[in-house]
Amino acid sequence: MSTTADTVEKKGYDVEEIRAQFPILKERVHGKPLVYFDNAATSQKPRRVIKAESTYYATINANVHRGVHTLSTKATEAQEAARETIRTHINAKHAHEVIFTSGTTASLNLAAFSLGQLLLKKGDEVLISGMEHHSNIVPWQLACERHGAVLKVIPVTDEGELEPRRRDDATEYFTERTKVLALTHVSNTLGTINPVKELIAEAKKRGGVTVVDGAQAIAHLDIDVQDLGCDLYAFSGHKAYGPTGTGVLYGREELLNEMPPWQGGGEMIDTVTFEKTTYAKLPFKFEAGTPHIAGIIGLGEAIRWMEDYDKQAMAAHEHLLLEHATKELLTIDGMRIIGTAKEKVGVISFVIEGVHHYDLGTLLDQQGIAVRTGHHCTQPLMERFGVSGTTRTSFACFNTVEEVNSMVAATRKAVKMLR
Ligand code: ALA
Repeated sequence: MSTTADTVEKKGYDVEEIRAQFPILKERVHGKPLVYFDNAATSQKPRRVIKAESTYYATINANVHRGVHTLSTKATEAQEAARETIRTHINAKHAHEVIFTSGTTASLNLAAFSLGQLLLKKGDEVLISGMEHHSNIVPWQLACERHGAVLKVIPVTDEGELEPRRRDDATEYFTERTKVLALTHVSNTLGTINPVKELIAEAKKRGGVTVVDGAQAIAHLDIDVQDLGCDLYAFSGHKAYGPTGTGVLYGREELLNEMPPWQGGGEMIDTVTFEKTTYAKLPFKFEAGTPHIAGIIGLGEAIRWMEDYDKQAMAAHEHLLLEHATKELLTIDGMRIIGTAKEKVGVISFVIEGVHHYDLGTLLDQQGIAVRTGHHCTQPLMERFGVSGTTRTSFACFNTVEEVNSMVAATRKAVKMLR
């Protein structure tokens, strides 16, 4: 992309107008203006989202789908409006294909448990990639252990891209035994955007069920589940300007109808006797217990808020930050960026010779700059790149070129102190 720092801002992306909507950006940390570059861990929330949650508690707090009283009806309507907002946002066919969970982790555990019960037999294969978050590794390991299946891993190249063919003999990692492909859309550590649509098509040729971890994609890419052709798509609300404790598992209706429930409890049943329970229709079969109603309403508002903006302009702005930060960070002596894929979102993981990521993160915090340090819940990926951890900066639509410059200057200063 040939855009420069100036051209995007001249095209009218009004980052100051966006920033004004995020109250937290006025905070100071250690006496310095907050520079928040930990959006891959959780994004900040615009005022509209915070207000939607508190208005629910202040005016219509009640349980959903249970009461005949007015507040319960209003709470139910507000929650179901959020479901419809999400349906249109990800282009699902039906609102009942949108299941509310507590986050991507819960969505993937639901998927792995339920698909394991439905599909996995001894010797079957579950295919993941070498850049998965632990949330898209461990639930599949548990399912494989339960059913005697085998976990296979698509390797990652030096650039941080997937290598779905074996180097030596050009055969693919997909086999006739591949029952599930579970793949991250965007790597939380490397920022790599994976070619999920093509890999889903490969899996489908062999009759595999496809699951996408969209935690890092939902705030940055246009998601169209029908176009991707995936069976299940998981994401969290809190990485997309919404509340923590909210998430979604989209599922293709026919598959969801076949899948057994993951958790039992209230709301997910049709009838219960001590002898036998029958289950509720979609989506309720997968929504045991009282949901995070306020959070779901907040999530609906977060999606509506994002939809008020031109997603392409937001993405271009974030890409500009990525390119600018990459170029500037590379001027620091001993800098190694881990993850140099052609297609990336605004995530940069790096290590600097002679500098421990934890020390760097601490010194950046002293300058008011929030980054994440460590293994980012991707220990196998750290091993692949031969590092114990990295410093990670991850951008959102409200970040600025000036903030990137501050981060680079603070990093340079910290390196001098630490060497
Ligand atoms: N998965 C989140 C991250 O990458 C927490 O930071």
